[in-house]
Amino acid sequence: MRKKVIAGNWKMNKVLAEANQFVEEAAEKVPESDKVDAVVCAPFPFLTSLVEKAKGSHVKIAAQNMHYEDNGAFTGEVSPVMLKDLGVTHVVLGHSERRELFAETDELINKKAHAALNHKLTPIVCVGETLAQRDANETMNHIEIQVKNALAGLTEEQVAKTIIAYEPIWAIGTGKTASSEDANEVCAHIRHVVKTITSEVTAEKIVIQYGGSVKPANIEELLAQSDIDGALVGGASLEAESFLQLVEAGT
Ligand code: G3P
Repeated sequence: MRKKVIAGNWKMNKVLAEANQFVEEAAEKVPESDKVDAVVCAPFPFLTSLVEKAKGSHVKIAAQNMHYEDNGAFTGEVSPVMLKDLGVTHVVLGHSERRELFAETDELINKKAHAALNHKLTPIVCVGETLAQRDANETMNHIEIQVKNALAGLTEEQVAKTIIAYEPIWAIGTGKTASSEDANEVCAHIRHVVKTITSEVTAEKIVIQYGGSVKPANIEELLAQSDIDGALVGGASLEAESFLQLVEAGT
């Protein structure tokens, strides 16, 4: 049985007081569970404070990006060493917004995945197709390439520790969710691709999330699918109440 992972990706939202209040409430209310991990993916300036607020609770704190080098002349960047030192546990890599708006490539995302795992951070690697690719029947092929490129050169043990988030770009922030069956079909394909590059055992271990307009009203149906092991949630993770409902659905 894979442990589910519900991760709230706040993107570039909130100020410190709001972030603190959210995590204080979540830290108080997220129960211990062997079925689900609750993760908050917050902007860099809040991380120190949020790790402190989450201490001793069942809430984990993640970054939304990072550089792949340990340190050096990279003005404006944040390294895996810094994140690990703060007590951050997860890091979102290759979100479609970063691929599209900040020109992140598969090659860069692969370097970041290596760096994260080498520093014992859990990478949440995002993949997903555009609407044009879906309409042209290119979804499976595109996802396969993204997954293979992101995981290239990782050991089997590292792949097993990676989380892959399938986020169809056309479903992000649009209110359009992929049907649970369609989402599951792609997640099952991702698991199959992982199997072809590692083994059945590793493919059974890897956590695959769905993301794209997930909300309390549709999470249960998504989580009931065979290959969906959690969700990466944007809009519906901004309010503590709705984040807690999403986590609850995974228990
Ligand atoms: O990373 C989560 C995301 O891109 C989905 O956003 O607002 O559609 O849940 P949203």
